[in-house]
Amino acid sequence: MSREISTFISTLLNAQIQKEFESAYIYLGFAAFFEQKGLSGFAKWYKIQAREEESHAMKFYDYLCRTDQKIDLLPINAPQKKPESIEQTLKAALVHEEYVTGLISNIYFQAEKENDLFTLNFLEWFITEQLEEEENARSLITKYEIFGSTPEGLYALDKELSQRK
Ligand code: FEO
Repeated sequence: MSREISTFISTLLNAQIQKEFESAYIYLGFAAFFEQKGLSGFAKWYKIQAREEESHAMKFYDYLCRTDQKIDLLPINAPQKKPESIEQTLKAALVHEEYVTGLISNIYFQAEKENDLFTLNFLEWFITEQLEEEENARSLITKYEIFGSTPEGLYALDKELSQRK
């Protein structure tokens, strides 16, 4: 069993801090888009999502600290695309989560190659989380397709999303 985290894995984990903060930024942008549309339930849902992403970033930060690795903070870039429509935004969230799942998988496969059991164990939580995040994003798209086409349906959906804790 390897006890040392390689420089390569450490670089990937540091980059993931940036990616998680960038995810928070993307979802904050979505929240702002929904605020402007008067859909405060959707906005709340994405504000909470943004906070979750910050907490993901901090899990990577804490893991790097616990394993005595250097923290190398990278610039947080603005979201590349502005939300255009409700449908496009919900779909962009799913595409983004699939992208993040790919990033986590890449670190996992590298850790597997290097027999880095601590990192493999650490990433288990994120694998479960990514399944949930993709599921949530997919479910929002489905709900919007079913209910979003009428003002009454959209109102009910917005109300449901406002219940997120
Ligand atoms: Fe941190 Fe939504 O993945």
